[in-house]
Amino acid sequence: MILYTFFDEHDFSGKTIVPFNTHGGSRFSDTIGTIAGLEPDAVVIEDGFTVSRNNVHEAEPDIIRWLEDLGYAK
Ligand SMILES: Cc1cc2nc3c(=O)[nH]c(=O)nc-3n(C[C@H](O)[C@H](O)[C@H](O)COP(=O)(O)O)c2cc1C
Repeated sequence: MILYTFFDEHDFSGKTIVPFNTHGGSRFSDTIGTIAGLEPDAVVIEDGFTVSRNNVHEAEPDIIRWLEDLGYAK
C-alpha cells in the first residue's frame, strides 16, 4: 500500500501525473483511475505506459514512442 501512503502524504493539485509501471500480467489494473480518485485536482494522463516484466529488455522503442506521443521526448 505504499502508493496509497505516498498519495496521502503529498498534494499533487495542479500537477500532471504520468503513470508508468512494470507488471506480471495485470497491466495497470485499476491503478490510473485509483490515482485520479486520490488526486482529484491533478491531471492524470490516461495513456500510461505499462510493460510486462518479461518484455522490459525490449521496451525502449515503445517507451520512446510513448514519450513522443505525449510530447515529452526531445
Ligand atoms: C508482492 C507482489 C505482488 C505483486 N502483484 C502483482 C499483481 O497483482 N499483478 C501483476 O501484474 N504483477 C504483480 N507483481 C509482479 C510485479 O509487478 C513484478 O515483479 C514487477 O513488474 C517487476 O518489477 P520488479 O523487478 O521491480 O519487481 C507482484 C510482485 C510482488 C513482489
